[in-house]
Amino acid sequence: MSNYKSKLEEWYDSTAERYDSWGSREGEYSSQTKSLEIAKFNEILSLIKIKENTKILDVATGTGIYLIEALKKGGVGYGVDISKSMLEQVKKKIIKFKLKSKVIKIIKGDAEKLPFHSDFFDIVICIGMFEYYPLVKVKAFLEEIKRVLKKEGNLIVDFPNNNNKEVYEFQKKERSAGHEIHIYEKGKINEFLKHTGFRIIKSNCAGIEIQFLLKLVKK
Ligand SMILES: C[S@@+](CC[C@H](N)C(=O)[O-])C[C@H]1O[C@@H](n2cnc3c(N)ncnc32)[C@H](O)[C@@H]1O
Repeated sequence: MSNYKSKLEEWYDSTAERYDSWGSREGEYSSQTKSLEIAKFNEILSLIKIKENTKILDVATGTGIYLIEALKKGGVGYGVDISKSMLEQVKKKIIKFKLKSKVIKIIKGDAEKLPFHSDFFDIVICIGMFEYYPLVKVKAFLEEIKRVLKKEGNLIVDFPNNNNKEVYEFQKKERSAGHEIHIYEKGKINEFLKHTGFRIIKSNCAGIEIQFLLKLVKK
C-alpha cells in the first residue's frame, strides 16, 4: 500500500470512534451538512429499485452510514474499507440495528483491489473517498468498481462541491492532517465521468459534495 494510503488508514483508525460526531471540532464540517448529504443520498437511492436479493457494496464504508441507509430499503450488504477501526464501528452498528441477517461481509481492503468476484454487485456506493485522490487514481478505482459491478448496475459516488465555501475549510483541515482534498469544477467531473463507461443518471448538490447516480453501460 502506498504511503499516502497508509497515512489515511492511520488517520481514520485514530478518528473512528468520533467519526459520527461531526461538528464537534473546529474546521469540521457541520452535522447539518452531513444530514443534508444523507437526505440527498436517499433521494438518489429512491431512483433505484432495491429488492430483497439486491447485492449492495459500500466501498470506503467508514462507519457504515450509507450502507445502513441503503439496507433500510432492502437488499443485502457488503462493506469494505482500509481502516480496521472504522469497520469495528460498522460491526457495532450492525448489532445495534439488528442487521446481522442483511450484512454478508464487512472486510478490510483497498478500493483499488476489491476482495470480491467480478460481475457480482447490483449497486455500488462510494461516498467520501474519491476526494482524497487525484483523478488518475479515481479512474483506477472506477475500473475496479466496474469489474465487480454487473452491467447496467448502479453506482453512487460523490466529489467535492467547488461552489460551496465550506469545502475549502474542509480542505484546509484535511491538509493539516496530511491529506489532500482534490476539488474540481463540476464540468470537469462530468467530462471525466463521460469517459469511464458510466452514464450520469442524476447529480445532486449535497452540502460540500456533489453526488452522482451513474449506470454502468460499457464493461
Ligand atoms: C470520509 S470517510 C467516508 C466514510 C463513509 N463512506 C461516509 O461517507 O461516512 C473516508 C473513508 O475512506 C476510506 N478509504 C480511504 N482510502 C481508501 C481506499 N483506498 N480503499 C478503501 N477505503 C479507503 C477511509 O478509511 C475512510 O473510512
